[in-house]
Amino acid sequence: MPKNKIDTIAVLTPGGDAPGMNTAIRAVVRTAIYHNLRIFGIQKGWYGLTTGQIEELNLKSVGGIINKGGTILHTHRCPEFKDSRVRQTGYKNLAEHGIDGLVVIGGDGSLAAANVVAKETELNVVHIPASIDNDISLTDYTIGFDTAVNTALDAIDKIRDTATSHERVFVVEVMGRKHGILALEIGLVSGAESIIIPEVKFNIAKTAEKIKEGRERGKSSFIIVVAEGAISAIEFAKKLKGRIKNMDIRISVLGHVQRGGSPTAISRELACKMGANAVEALIEGKNCLMMAARSENICPVPFKDVLKHKKTADLSQLKLAEMLAI
Ligand code: F6P
Repeated sequence: MPKNKIDTIAVLTPGGDAPGMNTAIRAVVRTAIYHNLRIFGIQKGWYGLTTGQIEELNLKSVGGIINKGGTILHTHRCPEFKDSRVRQTGYKNLAEHGIDGLVVIGGDGSLAAANVVAKETELNVVHIPASIDNDISLTDYTIGFDTAVNTALDAIDKIRDTATSHERVFVVEVMGRKHGILALEIGLVSGAESIIIPEVKFNIAKTAEKIKEGRERGKSSFIIVVAEGAISAIEFAKKLKGRIKNMDIRISVLGHVQRGGSPTAISRELACKMGANAVEALIEGKNCLMMAARSENICPVPFKDVLKHKKTADLSQLKLAEMLAI
């Protein structure tokens, strides 16, 4: 049974970093100290937990980080955490510091691991969804998604300039792991002529036809956004080549640039609210809750509900993007 009275908590950022994680760490630390809790930071995610990289944080530890990308706690992919013997070492390290509550800031992998930790220990565990992929169910947004969309948008706006000047087709590959949620948003707001996502089988002949028709109407550039989970930009460009006459094709893989940079106001606001709510949930004796963003509010939802549902790409958004980019 988890404890009701929490006086010492820890925060960690496992998995891929996302812009806004630092803003969330700051909110967690400041809220904890405001409520007279001791707060520890675990370096390098689950890996640092198992290797004992745990340090007490204070108000100054999180000064000047609200606008910084990445995570001051660092992160490290840690497949070894799937091994229960490795996890036991981590639990011993937490006990040695008297930690009775955990705030896990991360994506879907971190959420699944947080659920396991809550089940195997007496700790109270809460989760803050932070990932550029926005692929966690029951929350409208994850911290970092809006920043990544804006970073990609800025890059594509620039690509559009050169594409138009040279009258070229650009295939732009964006992240999102096996989901098309990030690509869909980037495609819609950048006015991409075509968006290729894993959720929908692509039709290369249809894309080529669309380019041909546009060209005949005098269009001078075409942006095709491909989600990394659907096909690589190189492969897609190869398939398109030969079907397009009188236009060069170029590719651009945006890659990890999408994970960096100063968080946008939207990512920061989510991080401030979710961070404070997470700590207050622990103080109230809550356990196994993810801080979800729903229509402007933060609504805690049980881990089991989040893990039961899969977030899917909103295909009506694809239709809208296609209609607006004829
Ligand atoms: O989950 C975030 C993410 O950036 C995905 O979009 C991407 O597929 C993956 O992480 C890349 O991971 P890594 O940085 O370990 O290569």
